[in-house]
Parts: sequence; C-alpha cells; structure tokens
Amino acid sequence: MRVLITQSIDPGGLALLEAAGLELTLREGEEAISREALLARVAGCEGLLCMPTDTIDAEVMDAGPLRVVSGHAVGVDNIDLEAARERGVIVTNTPGVLTEATADLTLALLLACARRVLEGDALIRAGGFKAWRPTMLRGMDLYGARLGIVGMGRIGSAVASRAQVFGMEVVHHSRSGGISLSELLETADVVSLHCPLTPATRHLMGEPELRTMKSTALLINTARGAIVDEPVLARALSEGWIAGAGIDVFEHEPAVHPDLLAAPNAVLLPHLGSATWRARRRMAELAARNLIEALADREPTHRVA
Ligand code: DGY
Repeated sequence: MRVLITQSIDPGGLALLEAAGLELTLREGEEAISREALLARVAGCEGLLCMPTDTIDAEVMDAGPLRVVSGHAVGVDNIDLEAARERGVIVTNTPGVLTEATADLTLALLLACARRVLEGDALIRAGGFKAWRPTMLRGMDLYGARLGIVGMGRIGSAVASRAQVFGMEVVHHSRSGGISLSELLETADVVSLHCPLTPATRHLMGEPELRTMKSTALLINTARGAIVDEPVLARALSEGWIAGAGIDVFEHEPAVHPDLLAAPNAVLLPHLGSATWRARRRMAELAARNLIEALADREPTHRVA
C-alpha cells in the first residue's frame, strides 16, 4: 500500500511506517507542497500523512483515491471532513502529544510581549543600551494581571495552569462555559486564543472585538491565524486599540500580512507551537500509528471522521 508524506517528519514516525511494510513517497523541502505536486504525487496512494498547511479536499481524496488522511497536527481545519465522510475516507489527528509544548510557547509569547524581550534585544544590538534607566522599556506585570482564555480545551487548560503559577487571574470563555466573550475582552489584560478554527470562530477577533479590548491589553494567538482578522489586527496595533500581540499562526501561512510585519509591537513566530523534539517525535509516531491502524482496517487511536 502506498502512502504520501508531504514533509519530512521525525524518523520515529518513518520507522513505524516502514516497519508496517508501507511503500512511502516522501516529499522533502523547505516549502509546502504545491497543489499540483500534491495532486500528482497522491495518485495511486491509499494513505496520506499531511501537514496542517496542506489543503485536503475532495479533489485530493479522489486523486488517490485515498482511504485514510492522517493529519500531523491536532487542528483539522485544513481537511474537508464533510467530503471525507461522504467518501468514507478516514481522517485522524494527533491530540494530546503537543499540549504542553504549545502551552509553553504561548507563555513564551506572552512573556516576550509583556516584558518587551525582542525590543530589549534589538536595542542592545543597535548599540542603544547607554545606561540602566528606570524609565526604559517598562512592560506589564503578569502577577495580578487577568488572562482571558478563549477555548478551554487541552491547550487552553495547560496555559491556565502555567499562568496561575505566575500569579495571573485566569478567566475563560468556551463552548462549555466561562464568562461571555465580551466580558472577557473588556476585562482581560491578556487575551489568549485556544479555540479550533471552525466557521463559527473564523475572524472571531474582528474590529468590534479588538476595539472592545483594553488599550493596554495583549493578544496572543497560538491557535489558528484565521481566528483573527489580520488586517484589522494590524490597524489595532498601529492605532493603539491594543498594546501588543504575540502571533504564532497566520491565515495564509507561510505568508504573513505585510501590515503585521510592519507592526513594531507584534512578536511573530513561524507556527512553532508544537516545535519541540519530543512533541514532534510523538506527533510523527501518532500520525504514523493512526495511518497504519486505519489502513489495516482497525479503529485508529484518534479518528475525527
Ligand atoms: C496543530 O497540531 O494543529 C498545530 O498547529 C501544529 O503545531
């Protein structure tokens, strides 16, 4: 059985796939696989191991034709689940194994924004550190600040525990409860997004929402870029509706909106949430196991469709 893997993955995952006797087509490269290459290479494959930035729709499924799409991610917004259900294509993902790594990165962005870490680094490199000055690069105290978490699933909860250790007051808004989104936005010193991207959350953070936030507040997004209206966020940053943003995910990755690139009060990262050695190994192994199980007609560990 042939399987296409759209990017280099941790060798632990590859070893499992090889041991299962699957015929692997590996695509390596700095860039995401192009649509043309994806359609050409998937032909004749029953399994696909794909990245969160690959768009997997009916055309890709039919080009296999595929039996299994194994996402190397927890988010599956890039996969047309309805098309998969209609065709009986099994879709799997990798929840759990990246929770702690993504929560850590959320705190890294929060701290970088709150304590102006990149500005301090840039100042030193530009020769601007002339004296220790009481008024230089003051930032936000996390102790006593209110963190508003939007989406209290695994990652949101892991961020909450970390923030509590820093002495933050944590409130949340999610499908299962918490406070209203408007109360959270009005009162939080930091808003951190952890909901999945769905039709209901696409551009959840638009102009009214960003204008509702405090002018001193920070927005952190390690979930999905399209939850935020990026041009509006860029205006919010340049016009001072909010104080800063830490952004790890973008609506049209790998492209980053030019106005965000120009915003000095934004810390931008290239979707590094789960980028630790352990998380990426465990993601690759779980994605491989899901694929192997589904191709062997066994119920995969993490099936979403
Ligand atoms: C995911 O798993 O959805 C992440 O975005 C990958 O880091």
